Amino acid sequence: AYSSVITVEVNGTAHTLTVDHRRVLLDLLREDLGLTGSKKGCDQGQCGACTVLVDGRRVNGCLLPAVALDGSSVTTVEGLADGDALHPLQRAFLDRDAFQCGYCTPGQLCSAVGAIAEAEAGHPSHVTGAEVPSGRPVPLTRDEIRERLSGNLCRCGAYPHIVDAVEDVLT
Ligand code: FES
Repeated sequence: AYSSVITVEVNGTAHTLTVDHRRVLLDLLREDLGLTGSKKGCDQGQCGACTVLVDGRRVNGCLLPAVALDGSSVTTVEGLADGDALHPLQRAFLDRDAFQCGYCTPGQLCSAVGAIAEAEAGHPSHVTGAEVPSGRPVPLTRDEIRERLSGNLCRCGAYPHIVDAVEDVLT
């Protein structure tokens, strides 16, 4: 099998790794680096449980070949908190009870971080087609939040509380 040496930063720590070209980012994180926060749900790019940030953009870890990460910076759910201080979205998810079983939560959190950054960067909403002016507070409606997080499924149906939590950090 073909493999390559890549250098990748994960949650602020640089790693030089030899990766098989068939290996995906999610397996690299969970099995090689022991970062098991990111979850494997469908393993087909459908559920979003594996969502992490690569250079600030959301990706499905189950789809992305790890070899493509050379020179990139990856943030997983383990990297969201600042020491003992939870990320504001983590705090909001707790305050709003935005989960039941919690399996989708790491992906929901990473996706929400990416979605807010996209909105702040002015990426248009698919719901309204309107560009979002950059800068806080980002005036996302509940429908826009739902649409922007539509790649992340929750089998428990915690969606209303997830939207509540994201609204909290936007206001
Ligand atoms: Fe990657 Fe479902 S495990 S999208």
